[in-house]
Parts: sequence; C-alpha cells; structure tokens
Amino acid sequence: MAVFIHCILAALLLLDFVAGGRWDSAIRMPIEEEEDEVGTRWAVLVAGSSGYANYRHQADVCHAYQLLKKGGLKEENIVMFMYDDIAHNPLNPRPGIIINHPQGDDVYAGVPKDYTGTQVTAKNLYAVIMGNKSAVEGGTGKVVDSKANDRIFIYFSDHGGPGVLGMPIMPFILANEFINVLKKKHAAGTYKEMVIYVEACESGSMFEGLMPKDINIYVTTASNAEESSWGTYCPGMDPPPPPGFMTCLGDLYSVSWMEDSDAHNLKKETIEKQYQNVKARTSNYNTYNAGSHVMEYGNKSMKSEKLYLYQGFNPANANVTDNAIRTTSVGVINQRDADLLFLWRSYERLDEKSERKKEILKEITETITHRAHLDISVEFIGKLIFGLEIGPSILRAVRPSGQALVDDWDCLKSMVRIFESHCGSLTQYGMKHMRAFANICNKGISKDEMEEACITACRSYDSGSWWPSNRGYSV
Ligand SMILES: *[C@@H]1O[C@H](CO)[C@@H](O)[C@H](O)[C@H]1NC(C)=O
Ligand SMILES: *[C@@H]1O[C@H](CO)[C@@H](O)[C@H](O)[C@H]1NC(C)=O
Ligand SMILES: *[C@@H]1O[C@H](CO)[C@@H](O)[C@H](O)[C@H]1NC(C)=O
Repeated sequence: MAVFIHCILAALLLLDFVAGGRWDSAIRMPIEEEEDEVGTRWAVLVAGSSGYANYRHQADVCHAYQLLKKGGLKEENIVMFMYDDIAHNPLNPRPGIIINHPQGDDVYAGVPKDYTGTQVTAKNLYAVIMGNKSAVEGGTGKVVDSKANDRIFIYFSDHGGPGVLGMPIMPFILANEFINVLKKKHAAGTYKEMVIYVEACESGSMFEGLMPKDINIYVTTASNAEESSWGTYCPGMDPPPPPGFMTCLGDLYSVSWMEDSDAHNLKKETIEKQYQNVKARTSNYNTYNAGSHVMEYGNKSMKSEKLYLYQGFNPANANVTDNAIRTTSVGVINQRDADLLFLWRSYERLDEKSERKKEILKEITETITHRAHLDISVEFIGKLIFGLEIGPSILRAVRPSGQALVDDWDCLKSMVRIFESHCGSLTQYGMKHMRAFANICNKGISKDEMEEACITACRSYDSGSWWPSNRGYSV
C-alpha cells in the first residue's frame, strides 16, 4: 500500500507541474471542443451473483453507480441490478456499508434498489435494455426508455463461463440471447451509441464471433474467450482488505476501469486511453499467469470518443491532466477459487468446537466434492462419446478467434439440460464446462447419445442439494 500512496503523491506533484504548462494551450484554445452532447446518458449496472463470498461483484457495481452519479448521470437514468444481500449480511464487519477498495469510502449509500433478490434475472435485464416496461417482473419498473440520440453504458460483473454470464436466479445469460437483445435494440432505433464493459471468466466468449461491428456498440471484456478473470483486494494478499473482511473487495478489471475513471478528467480521456490503461493493469503488468487479456469487440471506431459521453463528467476532476494510478502488480485470485478462499478463511477463524465450524467444514467438503464430481463426469462423458484417447482433447478444443463458441445455441442449451438432469447443477464453478457441451454440439452428437453417456457417468452420484429441480436449469 505504501507504493500506492507514494504514487498518488507523485501524481499530485506532477499535476502541479503540468498545470503550469497547460495554461498556454488553454489561452490559445479557450473554447473546449464539445462533442455532440444532445441526448441522455443511460446506464445499466448488473451484479450477477449473490452470497457474501461474492461480495466483490456487488461492491463493483455500487462503485460504478457512485462514479456515474458523480459524473452527473441522473438516478432515473441508471438501472441497478444487485441481489442486495451484502451490506446487511451478518458477516459484514461494517454493517450497512460496502467498500470496493481497502481504503475506500462507502459505495452503498444511495444506491437505487431497482431490481434486487429474485428480480435479478436475465429476463428482466433484457426487458430493461429493450425499454419494455410491460415485460419486467417486479422491481421498480425502471427501464432504459432511451431515444435515438441517447447513449447507453452497460456494466456487468460476475462469474461466467464459455458463452454464459452468471445470474443469481437461473437461467444464466446466454451469449446469443444477449446479442439478439442488442440487435433488437439497434433495430428499434432507440440509441445513438452504446459502450459495454463485462467482467467475468471467459467473458470474451460472449462476443467472439457474435458481436456485429455495425450496430454502434463498443465492448471490452475482462478476459478472452478461454481464461479466468481475477478477484482482487483479497484476504492475505497485497493489498489486503481491512481486518475483519474474509472476502475479496473487488475484481481486477473492474477496479482498473473505475479507479481510472475516478482519477481522470473524462472530458479529456478517450475510450481508447481507458482501454489501454485497463488492459495494462488487468494483465497485472504482463504477468498473465495472474491476470487476463482485456479484449475489445464491436465498432472500434468509437474509441476516439471521450469517456464523459457515457460515464459523465465529475467537476472535481476538471484540472486533472494525466496521472498513472498504480504501476505495481497486485495480489489476485482466480474468480473460481474466491468462494473457497472465503470458506477457508471463515473456517480458520472459528473456535475449534463451535457448531458453525462444523457447518463450514461440511460446506467446504460438499463444495469440493461437487466440483470434483462435475470435472470427473464431464471428462467421463467425453470419453464415452469420443473414446478414451481423443475425448478429453475434443472437449477442450478452442475454436479459432473470430468463430463463435457453438453454431447451434439451442443444441447447447439442450445438452446442458440433459447433463444437469442426470449429473446435477453446473453451479457457478461448473460454468467453465460450457465449452465441452458446445464441442459436443459442434461434433453433431445426438441428444440420445448424450443422454446415454450422462446416465452412465452419473448413475451412482447423489448431487445433494445441487439439482436443477431446486434451482432451475442453468440455461
Ligand atoms: C414487451 O414485452 C411484452 C411481454 O413480454 C411483449 O408481448 C411485447 O411484444 C414487448 N414489446 C416490445 C415493443 O418488444
Ligand atoms: C462505427 O462508428 C463510427 C463512429 O461513430 C461511425 O462513423 C461508423 O459508421 C461506424 N461503423 C459501422 C460499420 O457502423
Ligand atoms: C481548476 O482550475 C481553475 C483555474 O485555475 C480553477 O478556477 C478551478 O477552481 C479549478 N477546479 C478544481 C475543481 O480544482
């Protein structure tokens, strides 16, 4: 952390210094060039998870709300999706408060409760984006009621997998369904341009080979189509959360773009510049074994636009010229291991003999057992269908960039459902196996063949509470 504070001091000094030089150019060009700013700015912010172990996703979107609010977006134009089980969670060491940085202020205060709890669904998200009030179920009914000149910013943070983004209530967001909503929105002519930021594992796969370049949407994702994204500000890492927090406070790509926006004049910074800054920091400064590849999709010509057109402009940043936020790498954890880290930290803290300690141990055991079951049965199914030697490599095969995960998305949906009926829910961890099911479809395997393999692989396994009958199918 010492390094971080040092950087801020250095940046302030630099700022002082540069401000002198800036004056000349301000005299030569007294009128700021304003880009056409006729429409309304809209935003949709989505945390796709629930549970205290996933604190960081809701912390991310609450932070985004505060940032946009400071930038002058109106509450009526920002639609929030969050399960809302963090701030008042009994495990929260600061009741009623959520932070997104070890030294951060509360980001929860004033956040609108548009869609919370069971209202956080893919269906509601699609209706909100479309501006279709009558299709929304529950919540405040706030939708993106945008007009032809308006700009829309969508930010999502959660777990994901090949072709899917998580939601706390099943089903997940499936890539082709999401892209179809965007195409319909474009066809409706109800926006000028849109920027989408997505934090999730394999988030590139939501857009790879699917995202059109001609619908005025620019997208960046935390990771490419085949890698994890990373949680940060986690217990036992550098920098750690304050004492008492057993959970990560943020995600690497998410805090990278938000801390960048918080510290810059967004009337000056382009989308391109933010992309470059975030890309560098999310790679953990080129240590990709603990970082990911930020990707971009859609219409890349939009990158020369200034960020304030989407995120607004905070007058407090008016005189900020340029400053490097952080140049050292930070401790991170694979998104998929973050919930186990949380369970272990909780376990270690408790008294030897407490009932709660036994319960947590049971939860750890069940979680690890179900994960192992998912991994083993998917591999087994691959071998049954394709043979011992080539089964595993067929399931893992990644298609060349520019090609979508699967050709027949309905097939993918069916294969997932057949698997879950016999082998139990995929869960947020098992989303990583979506590619295996996609490849089974790409090879033209029939549903009957798949069903037979699933029955054989999972006949003797009791998935406990992890059945789709309890939670619904994942897709
Ligand atoms: C809005 O949603 C309703 C209910 O799902 C649907 O019947 C209607 O066609 C939708 N309207 C538009 C404009 O998409
Ligand atoms: C991409 O965006 C730019 C800038 O808004 C626009 O001029 C161009 O027509 C767009 N390209 C396509 C293929 O739609
Ligand atoms: C920015 O600089 C101008 C001119 O020096 C000054 O009047 C203004 O108060 C400054 N704004 C902020 C937020 O510091």
